Parts: sequence; structure tokens; C-alpha cells
Amino acid sequence: MSNSKFCDLRGKVAIVTGAGKGMGEADSIKLANAGAKVVLVDISKDDCEKVADEIKKNNGEAIVVKCDVSKKSEVENVVKEALYAFGKIDILVNNAGIFPFEPFLEMAEENFEKVIDVNLKGYFLMAQACAKEMVKQKSGVIVNISSIAMGQVGVGFAGLTHYCASKGGIIAMSQAMALELAPFGIRVNCIAPGAIDTPGASAIKMDAKAMEAMLAPIPMKRKGKSEEIANAVLFLVSDESSYMTGSTMVVDGGWVAG
Ligand SMILES: NC(=O)c1ccc[n+]([C@@H]2O[C@H](COP(=O)([O-])OP(=O)(O)OC[C@H]3O[C@@H](n4cnc5c(N)ncnc54)[C@H](O)[C@@H]3O)[C@@H](O)[C@H]2O)c1
Repeated sequence: MSNSKFCDLRGKVAIVTGAGKGMGEADSIKLANAGAKVVLVDISKDDCEKVADEIKKNNGEAIVVKCDVSKKSEVENVVKEALYAFGKIDILVNNAGIFPFEPFLEMAEENFEKVIDVNLKGYFLMAQACAKEMVKQKSGVIVNISSIAMGQVGVGFAGLTHYCASKGGIIAMSQAMALELAPFGIRVNCIAPGAIDTPGASAIKMDAKAMEAMLAPIPMKRKGKSEEIANAVLFLVSDESSYMTGSTMVVDGGWVAG
């Protein structure tokens, strides 16, 4: 009988952006527990240090690199630090994102640009920099965290025009990347989470009535946990999903099915 573990990441090196809290934190811990050496990337070094401590407590390996993913020079530094520490890059989880609510009619040009810069350009910069290394080894996996606010079969969100544009863009960009990178053995997939309980989501002021309205169309009548997204991430970065590329996995308690 084989003793191989399901979603075994031993020997793999993973970069996770937005690793300091929320889903990025859960993804990092999940990947480390599966055996990956993890590069924790975030604008908050302190938050990442706490996640690194947690990983090391469980005998995992992690380094922290402070980086704003919308800045090309900082992204290039992440790749340099990852290669210096661990010698290669097998996995990228593009997760760092912002979602500042703002009515469309009042949305300032610079705020629109900021969301696109972090949520869309940041994913492009990280993916391109990592893929250039993955191409050399003819293998790699990229998972881009989108959202059910992505257009297509998803749902629209008032107050998040810039965000919805960025999340739809991530899926379109990922499909194109999947086509170009498949010949190099690199897979690219997206996850579209529904409402997930994270520090970022909790910071959005919502009274009981608004919360009830948000949960109403969700068949499972609850928010998801970061851990539930991390399980999907683990599957998509592992060899268990070896025939999947260019696809989007919706993890939303049934929201878009409704
Ligand atoms: N929470 C939800 O309901 C939900 C739903 C769908 C999709 N998402 C997406 O999931 C991802 C994670 O969301 P979350 O709820 O865990 O967010 P969060 O706010 O709890 O955590 C986001 C992390 O990203 C970091 N970050 C922000 N800007 C950055 C930048 N420029 N460079 C590097 N790091 C940066 C933050 O410091 C923070 O640690 C985002 O892309 C978000 O759009 C969230």
C-alpha cells in the first residue's frame, strides 16, 4: 500500500501574499502543515512574524518578506529572498487584496487606481516574477484568489465598483496565463470565495439588518471560514488537481447557485 499523503507538499516552496492575516494566514499555515516551506509576504511584517512563529512551532519552515505587491521592485525582492532562502519557487498563492467600500458616484480616480493596483496589477507582477522562475524548472502552480464579485456567474456588490472590476480581471487574466504557461508545466487556477469571516471583512461596518440581508441569499446561511478557503487552496496547489488549469473554484456556501 502506498504511504503517500493526500495533498502532500513536502519538498515544495510556496509564496503566499497577504499572509499576515485572514485567508492568507490560514493558507500559509495549511501549506506549511502539508510540508511546504512558506514565504510569507505582506505589507505588515509584524503580522507575518506571528504567522511564521506559529508555523515554526509546528516544526514548519517559513520566512517573512515585507512587500507591497503593487510595487514591482518589492515583488522582485520577494523572488530574490525566496530563492536565497529556499532555492526555488513551486507555488504562488496570490491573495493580498483590499476592499474599501465607496459609492460609485463618489469614487475618486485615485481610489479606483489603488484597488486595481493592489488586486489586479499586484497579482500580475507576482505571477510574472514567479512564473519566470517556474519556467526554468518546467513546473509550478499559481492560485489567484478572486471573489464571487467577479461578474460572469458571480454577484455584483454595490459600493465595490473598483473591487468587482479587479476580481473579474483576475479570472480573465488567469485564463490567459493558464494558456501561455501550460506548455511549461505551470498550472493557473482561481478561487472565488463568497463571504468569509476574516479581519478585513469584519472591519466593514454592518448592522444586524445588513448582515441578515447579506446572509439571506446564501443557502448555508453562514459566512465561510478562512480554513475552508485554505482547504481549496491546498487542493489546487497540490498534485491532486494535476488536470486542472484555467478554472475557477467557487467556495461560497451555495451563494451563486441561488
Ligand atoms: N473576506 C471575504 O469575504 C472575501 C471574499 C472574497 C474574496 N476575498 C479576497 O480574499 C483575499 C483575502 O481577503 P481577507 O478577507 O483575508 O483580507 P484581510 O484584510 O483580512 O487580509 C488581507 C491581507 O493582505 C495584506 N495586504 C493588503 N494590501 C497589501 C499589499 N498591497 N501588499 C501586500 N499585502 C497586502 C493585508 O496587510 C492583510 O494582511 C483578498 O484578495 C480578498 O479580496 C475576500
